[in-house]
Amino acid sequence: MQLNNSSFTSSSEDVMNLTDIYQKDCNLAIWKRKPSDDITRYIEQFIHQGSNFRDVKRVISVDKAKDSIENLFPDFSGKEYFIKDLSLIIEMFGYLFELKDVGLRCNVIHKTMCPNFHVDRVPCRLILTYYGEGTEYLSNSSRFDNIDVIQQINESEDRQVPKKYESYINQINNNDVALLKGTLWDSNYENAVIHRSPVNHTISRMVMTLDFV
Ligand SMILES: [Fe+2]
Repeated sequence: MQLNNSSFTSSSEDVMNLTDIYQKDCNLAIWKRKPSDDITRYIEQFIHQGSNFRDVKRVISVDKAKDSIENLFPDFSGKEYFIKDLSLIIEMFGYLFELKDVGLRCNVIHKTMCPNFHVDRVPCRLILTYYGEGTEYLSNSSRFDNIDVIQQINESEDRQVPKKYESYINQINNNDVALLKGTLWDSNYENAVIHRSPVNHTISRMVMTLDFV
């Protein structure tokens, strides 16, 4: 894990902003979206009313995204809004990176999964928190350059960020679409986004990721 202060985050309500990920020094592109009440209500039902749904891990053909995901999720009211949104995001990710297939993961998380700050060993991962708190990441614009502090946080019992460093940590909002470059993006080893799952989140989360396959 290294810090490269020349990298930047591109964030906008314009979906086209996601293409900024192709810029050499952009390591994080965010499409900011308003939370969807329909999708939130749908997910709330199967998280809180109980269902057999635990997680999804599938390779999805981009051309058949909607048909492929339809049966992977439980039937509760509002499901159509969720399926429509997720298939759109899959198609967009496939189109952006010219992929025929993508790796879909969707997890309901009741306790923190990756509490340590880390980088992903992938070219680029799409992360969308459909429910609950979003991913935390180290802000590039802060010009933070003390990797030892990150190490200390990771090694601490509660993973709390000391007050004086709190401003260096940003959080991706619920329902925003984020593209995070990892270490396998061409010549990007030192430019991967340092991030973690939010610690001490009080409500369950539902997180969806898309990867190259
Ligand atoms: Fe990660």
